[in-house]
Amino acid sequence: MEHTDVFDPRRYAQGLPHDAYRTLRDHAPVAWQEEYEVLGWPAGPGFWAVSRHADVVRVLKDAGTYSSHLGATQIRDPDPADLPFIRRMMLNQDPPAHGRLRRLVSRAFTPGRIARFTATARARAHRLLDAALADGGPADLVRTVTDDYALLNLTDLLGVPARDRGLLHTWTERVIAYQDPDEPPVLDASGRPVNPRSPAQLADMFAYAQDLAAYKRRHPADDVMTSLATSALADAELEMFFFLLTVAGNDTVRSAAPGGLLALAQDPREQARLWNGEVSLDTAVEELLRVHPPVLSFRRTATRDTDLAGVRIAAGDKVVVLHPSANHDERVFPDPHRLDLGRTPNPHVSFGDGPHVCLGAHFARLQLGVLYEAVRERCAGLEPDGPPRRLVSNFINGVTSLPVRLRAPSSPPA
Ligand code: HEM
Repeated sequence: MEHTDVFDPRRYAQGLPHDAYRTLRDHAPVAWQEEYEVLGWPAGPGFWAVSRHADVVRVLKDAGTYSSHLGATQIRDPDPADLPFIRRMMLNQDPPAHGRLRRLVSRAFTPGRIARFTATARARAHRLLDAALADGGPADLVRTVTDDYALLNLTDLLGVPARDRGLLHTWTERVIAYQDPDEPPVLDASGRPVNPRSPAQLADMFAYAQDLAAYKRRHPADDVMTSLATSALADAELEMFFFLLTVAGNDTVRSAAPGGLLALAQDPREQARLWNGEVSLDTAVEELLRVHPPVLSFRRTATRDTDLAGVRIAAGDKVVVLHPSANHDERVFPDPHRLDLGRTPNPHVSFGDGPHVCLGAHFARLQLGVLYEAVRERCAGLEPDGPPRRLVSNFINGVTSLPVRLRAPSSPPA
């Protein structure tokens, strides 16, 4: 089989490798992948890539066999010295320990708090779009709208004061975009890249989380950090959760928003169906998440010898699920490469499945729905105006630049 390497982070800068995913689904649904040295990072032991929807769901639901804790959840193995530290994060725990943390932090994400957020997100979307439109001409929607939209929504929900918002941006860039040539690499004394998830790299973020929690205890407000600061979380757990939210809540929406707008811009017929109200915003949000899943992969480690789709997996092997491939599995989605904004049912796995299913899904859907609605209200449609740029990463399906033309309400399609 040729071209079935889905490991190389550089490959994703060209778009999703749908041909490789398809070949894997049809011929090797659980396929061994080499983990060679790339971009200065050392080679790893390799991993199993899981490409069919049914198998992805099975792995994600069976935490007893496929652990998030043993080797954490990134493809690349953490430095053994950092593993105990990374394992303190809820994302990298298994039931039952995971359940305790998840219950504690879920209380901060009440539906009421998220719903109260709608008006703020709407005002922000309109303000950013108005500024982009006032600038005239084609706009890079990532720079002018979607990056700020995601970051400011998250900092508001957390209760991060306006003057500190830039810090959150810096921290998530450091952790997610470290393979991208646009990011200045952090190198150690011998010139090798430094793991951005090591305690040393995160010390300033953790100190900030403690300061913010102390501030919230003195000045409680209706935000997530106040809930966390006054909960039964230990200090170290609170820091870790702040880190998790900073990364999980920012880069995912920063990917989904331009990814969804790009898919709309590229498909004028479906766009028209949304604009004239033929399909609902709710189904459109789901379908845009299906075709552009912000997360490309998550890793588990086999706790015992097992079988998956007829393949023997040994205890200790890495097992990596491929969300975009599951979302385009023709065994589940009729005509998977067609954008169908009215698609129902739509059991995409963009938010994962099983015990770790995304805690912020409700908040993410709200932000995306509000943004698409604002674009619909502000302009007659959008068209690509040059190629988008994508992130070099095998973890986040990032769009780093999205040149589009926003048609004024009275102007006809070009
Ligand atoms: C479109 C946007 C988003 C996508 C596609 C997404 C995707 C995901 C996925 C796939 C997981 C599962 C990880 C695993 O299987 O190990 C996850 C977990 C998580 N997400 Fe999201 N996410 C999004 C937005 C958000 C937002 C806005 C927040 C918070 C404000 C958030 C917070 C979390 C947290 C805390 C977890 C860990 C849950 C756990 O370990 O139990 N996410 N997300």
